[in-house]
Amino acid sequence: MDRKIAKAAQRHFVTGVGLITSSGSVGQNVMAAEWTMQVSFEPLMIAVFIHPTATTLKNIKETKEFGVNISTDDQASLVNIAGGYSRKDLDKLNVKGSFRFYKSRYIKPPMIAGCVVNVECKLVMTKKVGDHTMVVGKAVSIRYNKARKPLVYHTGRYFKLGSMLESFRKTVKVNEKTFEFFSKETAGKFILKCVGAQIRSHQGLLVSKYTRNKISHEIIPLTIPQKGKDYRKTILDHLKKLGLDVNLKKKPILKRLLLQNKKKVQRINFVLYEGNLNSSSSVNTKQWVLKLDPLLKALS
Ligand SMILES: Cc1cc2nc3c(=O)[nH]c(=O)nc-3n(C[C@H](O)[C@H](O)[C@H](O)COP(=O)(O)O)c2cc1C
Repeated sequence: MDRKIAKAAQRHFVTGVGLITSSGSVGQNVMAAEWTMQVSFEPLMIAVFIHPTATTLKNIKETKEFGVNISTDDQASLVNIAGGYSRKDLDKLNVKGSFRFYKSRYIKPPMIAGCVVNVECKLVMTKKVGDHTMVVGKAVSIRYNKARKPLVYHTGRYFKLGSMLESFRKTVKVNEKTFEFFSKETAGKFILKCVGAQIRSHQGLLVSKYTRNKISHEIIPLTIPQKGKDYRKTILDHLKKLGLDVNLKKKPILKRLLLQNKKKVQRINFVLYEGNLNSSSSVNTKQWVLKLDPLLKALS
């Protein structure tokens, strides 16, 4: 690997910056760590990757606790202090007009005020990973302020979060019956995931009649796959059950739709496979449609 390219490429990752507070024989301290991340939901755990020369690492190893304070986009000057000096050189937390802190509930180090998230952590493990040490802490107290926005660190510079991206979901206006047919399937899920087959011939698009929850609906052959089951195999099995002998292409097509009926909306992701019927399949001619409703149009 070309070291020069690697060094430049590394700067193109994007992170936030944690302000890591600690206390120990060297005194109370704060360091900046872009390599701060959540690594477990339950229990909630946070990992910070710290260079062995940092005073923070010595403090954490001594006291087995630390504070994680995720910096906001108006705290770049604090990050510069925490990351630009070592506690060996400077009592950073006491630089005039800089950090405001509050007393922690369960650990000794103070927490930094005005951050997006503050987490009090008890040390679970340390492990040397390359030239840094991974420090993993279990959260014993957490709070956040949703009005604040995190600082973004990229190419050695600080940024604000930009605007939110569109969800790239196509809105399809459907009638009440179609909406109910799908929304009953969702069982409260935020996104309904379906797998279907696009089977075309000169007679049109192949649809199948489904009756679920007392609602009958004609739609392309589709089913709801089980979690962890291969989508292509699932739809092939489903087609077989429908008595359809089909050649399916290998490449899946992903359609992310937002079904809308008046004020009601439902997110549905369709994974579709193109295919054609083998001559052995006996298909009732009624199963082909040429005139496509908005949903069939979106799925064709
Ligand atoms: C934006 C920024 C991000 C940083 N991220 C890390 C990091 O993830 N890990 C690390 O070991 N040092 C990181 N540093 C450098 C430390 O903050 C720096 O070495 C600091 O002086 C250590 O302080 P201490 O010796 O008082 O613990 C970063 C510095 C800056 C400015």
